[in-house]
Amino acid sequence: MAKEQTFTCTGCGASHSKWSGRCETCGDWNSIIEATPLSKGPAAKSLGAKRGAKVMLSDLSGTETPPPRTGSGIKELDRVLGGGLVPASAILVGGDPGIGKSTLLLQAAASFANVGLKALYVTGEESIAQVQMRARRLGLTDAPVKLAAETNLRDILTTLDGEKPDIAIIDSIQTMWADNVPSAPGSVSQVRSAAHELTSYAKRHGMAVVLVGHVTKDGQIAGPRVIEHMVDTVLYFEGERGHQFRILRAVKNRFGPADEIGVFEMTGNGLAEVSNPSALFLSERDTPSPGSVVFAGIEGTRPVLVEFQALVAPTPHSQPRRTVVGWDGGRLAMILAVLESRCGIPFSGLDVYLNVAGGLKVSEPAADLAVAAALLSAREDTAIPTDTVVFGEISLSGALRPVGQTENRLKEARKLGFSQAIAPTRSKIGSDDGPGVRQMPDLTSFVGEIFGAG
Ligand code: TYD
Ligand code: MG
Repeated sequence: MAKEQTFTCTGCGASHSKWSGRCETCGDWNSIIEATPLSKGPAAKSLGAKRGAKVMLSDLSGTETPPPRTGSGIKELDRVLGGGLVPASAILVGGDPGIGKSTLLLQAAASFANVGLKALYVTGEESIAQVQMRARRLGLTDAPVKLAAETNLRDILTTLDGEKPDIAIIDSIQTMWADNVPSAPGSVSQVRSAAHELTSYAKRHGMAVVLVGHVTKDGQIAGPRVIEHMVDTVLYFEGERGHQFRILRAVKNRFGPADEIGVFEMTGNGLAEVSNPSALFLSERDTPSPGSVVFAGIEGTRPVLVEFQALVAPTPHSQPRRTVVGWDGGRLAMILAVLESRCGIPFSGLDVYLNVAGGLKVSEPAADLAVAAALLSAREDTAIPTDTVVFGEISLSGALRPVGQTENRLKEARKLGFSQAIAPTRSKIGSDDGPGVRQMPDLTSFVGEIFGAG
């Protein structure tokens, strides 16, 4: 029988029966490579119920106390972890190359070591001297962190067994290779089996393991998404290369809330915590300018004010451009369609650019109204007053829907000196003396009130 060929997406790990340019599961281009099948599929004969060992069963009402968490002292990191590091857990930290993952984790390792955990930092990408140089730059040379430069998984596991650290950082999982897997380091099967070995070692020995994963674009190296299901916590380190702000976002957390963010600033000597992100994201605003609108958002459990900027200009092309940075392009198309068909405001023949200032990525539908306001303000060349925040979800009918945590949004707005808010009707405003709230039932009345046109 001819050997079955399989094709695997290095972005998300999905397997396909034939090659194609785009993975249908995750939508990545050029990420599918040919792979030898890991197994020949289910055996013809069943395993049977007789030959295995009997598994010990226990009750739900155990007496085991929940594991204590350890805080690193870096508040932005501890919050994203759900209150600190849980022993015997596996954490994946993904992010673009060069965004600052190694910097963050060296600082984290040093902080955990300083509060008494035994920390081991395994680098597969840099030499010991390079890591020491970074530690000098970060002022961390006194922290009792043990360093190793190694990529052979077997040797790393033996070292872990001897050292018995409380936390091990593996930088990065894509450089690790297991000698019992016949494919190259960085391939889907190597990355998966290295992650599996390390997480199961961590669970068995009560150690916390942090796996660093580069988000890859070229398709030859497996991305961090292929191991997301194996770990307890998935954090992504985001930010625009040109900006100094960095956001650590929890996208999955078995021990705390997902969607929590920690905000950092990349400085000349490492990452600094930003405890008041709203002030930072709004710091460059002063005079009212058309196209600029402040959105009162919620990231995880925290209110964050950010500025949406829009530019609308006549297009020289037959196909107008829609360019979005920091928000969802599909959602922008939806709002343009609602503005056109419910309010009669066309954007055909106009290029539209939308940007979230400061490099933050916003994914809340509550930003819909702020986006619509920015687009209209840019199109009409009319500035929204600088003391106003906007939030609310837009439905396809053009109605405005109230969003969660309205009180927190308003409280944060007042704290930062905003005296006006525009929100959907039936928003739960609360009783305190927040900013004056103008409530609107739908997009048409919003356009009429703010821009004086129907
Ligand atoms: P790094 O942590 O090496 O990124 P990653 O591990 O995600 O690939 O960070 C690299 C960038 O950070 C590099 O461009 C230089 C910058 N940087 C600073 O600006 N200040 C610092 O103190 C350090 C250590 C790095
Ligand atoms: Mg690195």
